[in-house]
Amino acid sequence: MAQTVLSPQTSFHRTVFLTGDKSISHRALMFSALKKQTTLISGLSEAADPMSTRTVLAQLGVSIRKKGEIWEVKGVGRTGFKPFSGVLDVGNSGTTIRLMSGILAGQPFVSELTGDSSIRKRPMNRIIRPLTQMGAGIESVNEGRAPLKITGTSRLAAIDHTMEVSSAQVKSCILLAGLYTKEKTIVREKVKTRDHTERMLNLTTVEKDGYFVTESSSSHEFDLPDITVPGDPSSAAFWAVAGCLVPNSLVRIENVLLNPTRTGFIDVLKQMGADLTVTVTGECQKEPVGTLEIRSSSLKGVTIAGEIIPNVIDEIPVLAVAAAFADGITEIRGAEELRVKECDRISAIVQNLKAMGGEAEEFKDGMKITGTGKLTGAVIETFHDHRIAMSFAIASLAASGETRIQNSDCVKISYPAFWEILAGNS
Ligand code: S3P
Repeated sequence: MAQTVLSPQTSFHRTVFLTGDKSISHRALMFSALKKQTTLISGLSEAADPMSTRTVLAQLGVSIRKKGEIWEVKGVGRTGFKPFSGVLDVGNSGTTIRLMSGILAGQPFVSELTGDSSIRKRPMNRIIRPLTQMGAGIESVNEGRAPLKITGTSRLAAIDHTMEVSSAQVKSCILLAGLYTKEKTIVREKVKTRDHTERMLNLTTVEKDGYFVTESSSSHEFDLPDITVPGDPSSAAFWAVAGCLVPNSLVRIENVLLNPTRTGFIDVLKQMGADLTVTVTGECQKEPVGTLEIRSSSLKGVTIAGEIIPNVIDEIPVLAVAAAFADGITEIRGAEELRVKECDRISAIVQNLKAMGGEAEEFKDGMKITGTGKLTGAVIETFHDHRIAMSFAIASLAASGETRIQNSDCVKISYPAFWEILAGNS
């Protein structure tokens, strides 16, 4: 198992051109497969998670090839998928298993889906319940967890679903299944989550009775043009925090997707006092894209709670690291979803902050971090979670002494270039 040893830095100067957003990359592949014609995708993330989506779609009969820098997807249309005789393996990817389940629910054949040990621990009842209500047969031999056996049907029933948890994966799963219903399928969310599926569906999201409502139905045509995937803001968050924490730093991050459902970490860092400038440089897929410039900053503790949580859910590990170096207390609440991510991120963050000499306390739905302005190098247990590995790698840059990141190759799940950029080699 790979281990990466890191030392404190006296300054951190980087210009980073981000690779494609992971969430949009999954959807770009799936929507291209659902379309009957060929789609060209540029900027696709080649991290392990989107590549799991690629493998699963290929096993269902979709030709996906890279030609130069461009990916070519020969779509089969909504009903053109072929049954796969084996078990579809999503690896570590929650987005693959949940979104593909929505598509497979609408296929008139049986599919089996599984993944690695982390995926087999993650809750699937949140998609099993609505998909069952729509008429698909879904069996889990593992108490609402993968492996899943999906008996699809080409005639699903439309539902009007109010989400219990704020999850873009659940929303997207139901909306994709809604492409196989005659009537409109409606998903209501109390708090808006990332809206990449809706944007690709090219449907309007309207606010009604305090809920956000999104609809899909089979009447929608997939005449999507070729796709350019903008850079991943979740990856940008690591470099932004590095720029804040390491003295004498200047970090410039280019090609950052500035979709408002993803930029909560920028607001939190600014509230903490970060010297961070956002410049909108253009548009990609009709969304603003820009550059972030970050300089070393004195941070202060903040409360992260309420409606912002789904927006920053993937960035909380690195924001927690920032909080440990800040002045004062940071409290994170309403983030119980962190317990069912690639690992239990609440306990992983608190355990590792304490290992580095930080002051942190665990709550059921979050944590309290008392900023001490310093951390000490330690052995970091990543639990094979890419975001835990990268967050504590950033912590090591501003800590004293040496830090060892265990199983550090797990960063390939979302950001294969991370170690090279950290080392200043790319
Ligand atoms: C994702 C949604 C989020 C996020 C995950 C990617 C997506 O999960 O944590 O990394 O692509 O839709 P949930 O929707 O389950 O919160």
